[in-house]
Amino acid sequence: MRTTPERAAVVADPLVIRHLEFLGGMASPDGWRPESALPEIAFGGRSNVGKSSLLNRLVRRKALARVSQTPGKTREINFYLVNRAFTLVDLPGYGYARVSKEVRAQWRPLIEGYLRGSTALRGVVQLIDARREPTPDDLQMLDFLAELEVPAVIALTKVDKLRRAEVAGRTATLARSLGLDEDQVIPFSSVTGEGRDELAAAVVALLGQAPWRSE
Ligand code: GTP
Ligand code: MG
Repeated sequence: MRTTPERAAVVADPLVIRHLEFLGGMASPDGWRPESALPEIAFGGRSNVGKSSLLNRLVRRKALARVSQTPGKTREINFYLVNRAFTLVDLPGYGYARVSKEVRAQWRPLIEGYLRGSTALRGVVQLIDARREPTPDDLQMLDFLAELEVPAVIALTKVDKLRRAEVAGRTATLARSLGLDEDQVIPFSSVTGEGRDELAAAVVALLGQAPWRSE
């Protein structure tokens, strides 16, 4: 069969994973973080939005990041080295109601401190559940990213739970309500793998940008 160039472009994996390594966790704003200055892409979103599942899909591993039975458990910022070339940064999920006020109060300075302080940060993938409206926490996070002027894309998670015909409409509506281009919103499902290659391409594009703030 003859493949057209377009077809070949769809088939090629934008992010081939050759090497993966867990570097460690950052537990407080002034705590340990990896020494390497390799570029970082951070993943944020409310607890249970599907962040660990998305990371595992992205790197094609079953259990690089732990998928939780008990939401709200991840309290550290976890760093994963990919291909010895860049780092994926798993931010703790916010907004989980059933953890104590004290625990919730720790997340914000940790996340904000990391986002403000990392000179290696190249972009953020913000996860939003396709079936829900963005929460006040989501909007605050997006405002904060806009204030920092960090390049961001949205992954619309769990689209397998929507009817097929709903996905495009939901994507367009969310993009409009957040004032984003539609191509900044990527429908994603960890169950079916939908959106994996688009997300991988977006991550590669963010990595390819010049640092947006001076180091
Ligand atoms: P915390 O680390 O606890 O904040 O959660 P998280 O955002 O990392 O979510 P996680 O990946 O642990 O998934 C939470 C729950 O949603 C689990 O029961 C997953 O199996 C489920 N889930 C995650 N992604 C998808 C998806 O794309 N589709 C469906 N149907 N379920 C999903
Ligand atoms: Mg998680």
